[in-house]
Amino acid sequence: MRVLGFESSCDETGVALVELPPAGQPGMPKLLAQALHSQIAMHQAYGGVVPELASRDHIRRVLPLSREVLAQAQLGLQDVDVIAYTEGPGLAGALLVGAGVAVSLAAALGKPAVGVHHLEGHLLSPFLSADPPEFPFVALLVSGGHTQLMRVDEVGQYEILGETIDDAAGEAFDKSAKLLGLPYPGGPHLSKLAEQGRADAFELPRPLLHSGKPDFSFAGLKTAVLTQVKKLGDAPSEQQRADLAASTQAAIVEVLVKKSLLALRNTGLKRLVVAGGVGANALLRTELNTACVKRGVRVHYPELSLCTDNGAMIAMAAAMRLQRGTARLREDGGFGVRPRWDLSAA
Ligand code: KG4
Ligand code: ZN
Repeated sequence: MRVLGFESSCDETGVALVELPPAGQPGMPKLLAQALHSQIAMHQAYGGVVPELASRDHIRRVLPLSREVLAQAQLGLQDVDVIAYTEGPGLAGALLVGAGVAVSLAAALGKPAVGVHHLEGHLLSPFLSADPPEFPFVALLVSGGHTQLMRVDEVGQYEILGETIDDAAGEAFDKSAKLLGLPYPGGPHLSKLAEQGRADAFELPRPLLHSGKPDFSFAGLKTAVLTQVKKLGDAPSEQQRADLAASTQAAIVEVLVKKSLLALRNTGLKRLVVAGGVGANALLRTELNTACVKRGVRVHYPELSLCTDNGAMIAMAAAMRLQRGTARLREDGGFGVRPRWDLSAA
């Protein structure tokens, strides 16, 4: 059985084809082919994602990318058994493009369609890696819009242990980067600049670090960065900018690491899965690895290229649900999108 998956929740159009092991046989679904188009260059001029432009670009890209995926796999549409798409959360118009194309294709082929939760895609993306995790585990989900710690007992069994009360970690990276005059999306740019800086140069707050709960707050950090940027004046030196970038990154990473350790301690679990765009951050990976080795905890990451949005994670999440008989298949040609959707309700 093969699943064609579509991702279009924000600023990346992703399409991928995943194959399940033959019925009754154990094993992980396998990625056969994938293609991705990032809209970053298009949105950069505006300093952030422009929803209407995002939707229009998804429309332009989705069919050529689908053809590319099938050609890579040397298969045709008749070889696809299920069509998966990101149902939410995300930008309503952008979601509608992927959902509309997926459900139309499913109807034309007489095959079922299935809506996937975007964060479930991120969460299960490490199962596409060479070193997949085993259930149960604690998941640190750090994307542009979400920062959550979760207890994951199985596919579809998600208990939120803690989450951000304001900005997400990715947002903290992006907003701080913007204050430093870096292009969108700021996370990777800020972390690059931070390589030249000293992490102890500026004293920045670590909100809720000692709250004793696995919750987060990053809005205050952004304000503190703004204060420092103002103090540096109109022409900060390259070194000052790098120092502030390094200090900002260190503050975000320290909170993420401490809270992950707290969640691991509270649950008694010895396995951590990191997913979402911020999971690509090199300092976060180094610090988590060091902290977890000391505590006998295994850490799993998606492949670097699968940290940010992609179609493979959507096809994979659908495939893992199909294996368990818990995919919400629809064959009536109807669909909806859920711009806001709690993962614990998925
Ligand atoms: O998961 P994702 O691709 O999209 C959402 O679902 O939100 O995450 C995007 C976020 C952005 O905030 C981006 O700045 C951040 O991930 N990001 C990074 C890095 N790469 C991406 N943040 C810090 N360091 C990175 N290397
Ligand atoms: Zn995402």
